[in-house]
Amino acid sequence: MTGGAGYVGSVSVEHLLAQGHSVTVLDSLATGYRAALPDGASFVEGSVLDAGVVERALREDGIEAVLHCAARAQVGESVADPALYYRENVVGGVSLLDTMRRAGVTRIVFSSTAAVYGAPESTPIEETQLPRPINPYGDTKVAFERALDWYGRAYGLRALALRYFNVAGATEQRGEDHQPETHLIPNLLRAVATGEPVTIFGDDYPTPDGTCIRDYIHVSDLADAHLAALELTGSAEPGLEVCNLGSGSGFSVAQVVEAAERVTGRDVPRTVGPRRPGDPPVLVASNEKARKLLGWTPRRGTLEEMIGSAWRWRQGQPGGYGG
Ligand code: UFG
Repeated sequence: MTGGAGYVGSVSVEHLLAQGHSVTVLDSLATGYRAALPDGASFVEGSVLDAGVVERALREDGIEAVLHCAARAQVGESVADPALYYRENVVGGVSLLDTMRRAGVTRIVFSSTAAVYGAPESTPIEETQLPRPINPYGDTKVAFERALDWYGRAYGLRALALRYFNVAGATEQRGEDHQPETHLIPNLLRAVATGEPVTIFGDDYPTPDGTCIRDYIHVSDLADAHLAALELTGSAEPGLEVCNLGSGSGFSVAQVVEAAERVTGRDVPRTVGPRRPGDPPVLVASNEKARKLLGWTPRRGTLEEMIGSAWRWRQGQPGGYGG
């Protein structure tokens, strides 16, 4: 598991271990936290760009399949510093694939993103919509998906790219802690906890209440999908499959605010600001393909479960992993 000390990665490690798998985590700790690593996983500190370190880990630990979650993942940062994104997400990803080839590892599940769709033509979004990313972050994820496809055809790689929508929620022990935090739910909860108002980015979108609609998926549902996807690569034909991962229903920012007030029993202090550049009005997944291909269903799809678990985690560690 690359990026196993990050938010999505560490929760997936937790679930993999609980299912009896042996897990080796590779993480540079550039954005992940040592404290997020579950006991029971082997840990190698390093980047996917460190071919020697990666090859040693693949060979010595007898790795059967790779779950590639390591990435730079902030849209705004990707616009300001695209070089960082192409180097780590594309060059690093391709370096990982070449090292896997050398070590004879042919199975990979890749953390992709709904950002590959850019501002989609229609919703719910099906995988047949052509990727048209509108920022370097989304573009690096598409570039690596394409590499997976061609490597699959040429070298027999069996790859599955999972396009995550808005990941949210926590387990008892692991949650979301980004620096800086840009995501809606942790920002709402911080506002509740500190009294510092959160900014709602625009209420004049062409949606029923004027705020943006997103498809939120519980991080543990994502971990379930990772397990199913890893198993599938064991029997899949060489090549790439892509699959959306979302709950399949959309909630507006205003609905998420209301849910946060219900869950916490407190008001969310807030102000309405201008639109955030690059935010499409509506992003909702069709998850039909994931249901069919992976035999997966989201089991924690309510806002109450996602926000409730995030709130409990935050109350347990108000300063996050660093605090
Ligand atoms: N929002 C606010 N205030 C905040 C934070 C967010 O109003 O403080 C709004 C945003 O404008 C957006 C919605 O809440 O309308 C959700 O925003 P997030 O930042 O939580 O998530 P995004 O939809 O922007 O991004 C997510 C992933 C990205 C991925 C993208 C795909 O986090 O990695 O979906 O489009 F690229």
